[in-house]
Amino acid sequence: MGAAPRFAVFASGSGSNFQALIDAARAGRIRGELKLLVSDRPGCRAIGRAEEAGIPVFAFRAGDYPGKAAYEQAIGDRLEADRIDLVVLAGYMRILSPGFVGRFAGRIVNIHPSLLPAFPGAHGIRDAWEAGVEETGVTVHLVDEGVDTGPLLEQVRVPVMPGERLEDLEVRIHAAEHEVYPRVVDRLLAEVARGR
Ligand code: GRF
Repeated sequence: MGAAPRFAVFASGSGSNFQALIDAARAGRIRGELKLLVSDRPGCRAIGRAEEAGIPVFAFRAGDYPGKAAYEQAIGDRLEADRIDLVVLAGYMRILSPGFVGRFAGRIVNIHPSLLPAFPGAHGIRDAWEAGVEETGVTVHLVDEGVDTGPLLEQVRVPVMPGERLEDLEVRIHAAEHEVYPRVVDRLLAEVARGR
């Protein structure tokens, strides 16, 4: 058997999806190793979670680099040095450049809290709730050069209850995310292992 596939998570904020991935990897529910957290927000909760779990962190401030190409070069070099097979975006609030996406083509996955292509962008849950839809959900997709586009891998439907408060819908959407993301990441890493 070859070495286990390796993945990195990118996060900018609370990192609850990152935590779900940590927990699933520890429990043997992900056939791969979580090797790195990349974060553009030194001090964010996701970094604290990595430290608690003993996962190495690559944290940076965009303003410390001359531009996006420079920090993406540094991130990409670290991913290659760590032999990362899969990049898992989990609340990473920066848009990846076409150059970076091309460097890791077909190996970047994202989770979005709506049924894409409906409600892309930074406020997927709120936008769906304000639109009064009866159903929203979660999408896991491969990342291409667009924002919240790219081939769909899995969607989970979440009904909006009559009169439901936004905060309650958010809780149920996040619970759906924490269930689906480890499952899809496991499947993708198993595919990496089979392709070796
Ligand atoms: C999640 O809702 C995810 O779908 C979106 O950003 C949010 C990140 O939340 N891309 P968390 O940091 O994982 O708690």
